[in-house]
Amino acid sequence: VDLPALDRASEFPIYRQLHQALATQITSTKIPAGSKLPSVRELARTLSVSPITVVQAYDALIADGLAHASLGRGTFVGGPVFGLSPEGTRADPSESPQLAPGPNTEASQPQVSVHLRAPRISAMQSLLKPARKAEVISLAAGTPDPALFPTKTVGRLWSRMIATEDPSFLQYGTPQGDHHLRSWIAGRCRSMGINADPGQILVTSGSQQAIDLVARTFLGPGDHVLVESPTFVTALDIFEERGARLAGIPMDNSGAQPDAAASLVDRYRPRLLYTIPTAHNPTGISLADDRRRSLVALARSRNLLILEDDICSEFTYEGGPPKAIKTYDTSGHVIFVMSFSKTVIPGLRVGCVVADGPILGRLIEAKSLSDRFTSPLIQRTLWRYLTSHHYERDLEAARDTYRRRRDSILRVLADVMPQGVTWTRPAAGFNLWIRLPDGISATEAFEEGLREGVSCIPGDLCLAHDPPPSGLRVSFADNHEDVTAEGIKRLARAITRLLSSGRRARPESEFVTTI
Ligand SMILES: Cc1ncc(COP(=O)(O)O)c(C=O)c1O
Repeated sequence: VDLPALDRASEFPIYRQLHQALATQITSTKIPAGSKLPSVRELARTLSVSPITVVQAYDALIADGLAHASLGRGTFVGGPVFGLSPEGTRADPSESPQLAPGPNTEASQPQVSVHLRAPRISAMQSLLKPARKAEVISLAAGTPDPALFPTKTVGRLWSRMIATEDPSFLQYGTPQGDHHLRSWIAGRCRSMGINADPGQILVTSGSQQAIDLVARTFLGPGDHVLVESPTFVTALDIFEERGARLAGIPMDNSGAQPDAAASLVDRYRPRLLYTIPTAHNPTGISLADDRRRSLVALARSRNLLILEDDICSEFTYEGGPPKAIKTYDTSGHVIFVMSFSKTVIPGLRVGCVVADGPILGRLIEAKSLSDRFTSPLIQRTLWRYLTSHHYERDLEAARDTYRRRRDSILRVLADVMPQGVTWTRPAAGFNLWIRLPDGISATEAFEEGLREGVSCIPGDLCLAHDPPPSGLRVSFADNHEDVTAEGIKRLARAITRLLSSGRRARPESEFVTTI
């Protein structure tokens, strides 16, 4: 592979430059059919680009039919249908497109072409692999503390319910979900100012499934999706897996900037705007109220759907949670998604969608195609827990613990971080965002942190695309204050060392871009 010269100042995204350069070399047979392309990490390192950029370039080659990915083996020149025999001759195109007779055949490895890619999730998993050691403090998880899970109560309710309920409730159920649970959710929504009845609710297997159902139902290849930049990594993978293109709305301390959102809407005519307005992941920022209204007005005037992801507003530490965007929605443009993963137990896998009329109808169809319905046992147990006297008490106790942990991490950051490092002050949720001084990239800080024995999430993975500077996501909910404090001290040492080494960051102006 001849390494292309990449023009980082160009409007033409880096991944497309790379894709074009490789495509030219493949079609001119400079890279012969059957060759294995360099591994993502290797090429990313050589070109000083993010691994996601290479994955996107390879994906584009695959979409062109110029390359195929083989499970666990890498990316090879030539498509699966026109897969190459080990000798390099063209295979019979009438062969199954599923099974590519690939190069470097190993008896133990099936020759399977891969159509689903989740580049950010796999990049994150491989980045975090070295962090899975006992001596490394993880500030990377963004998960609730298992010590706070109401497992005993839920276990008791589960056993009692199995003993007493009519078994017919375990029959194949309706995709929309348990009526009792939907009634409870509707009541909760009304207490938040969202005008919902049980008929407007679909129970999902976690809110991640809700995002996936919305993407499957309303996005097609080439559609644009606006996202906050940065945002929830998995949502980016889900949208791109649908073939959607991402445009990132810049954020400031009050959240996504509505004027920027409006001009992106005019420019790209997106189908969907995905937002996490409260306890934003990864920054911890909550969107200002006037901006919530602006987004609804934008959606209505441009006939745009908003997917509002409310994963964590129950853990608001000062006053009550801000009003959901959905509360301002009078035209049915907002699809509201909630979850019980942070407030109860993530392993129950229960979330829900609140939407209006035909939109909900389509999502119910998508749910029935996906996993038919969420476990009725779990839904009913959850409902019994939510209606017990334990729920509000447990929630309050967890909120107090997380608030204490948030206050503690903010104190430690102020004590130990070197000059030039700033961070957000989350009013809700489990995460905050550390902004690095000029010249230090998120990847460098992450890697230096690992050397010190602390892990976090390098923010590049959470970006839809430009612009840097990026930052680090640090989670404070799942560790005791002392553990988090030690982790932050290690991170501060790592950043201080990078600052004093006088090293400049590698040019990293491309990050992830699909526009
Ligand atoms: C912003 C956001 N949305 C959705 C999810 C998915 O959560 P779950 O599927 O567990 O409800 C997460 C998980 O961390 C998240 O951070």
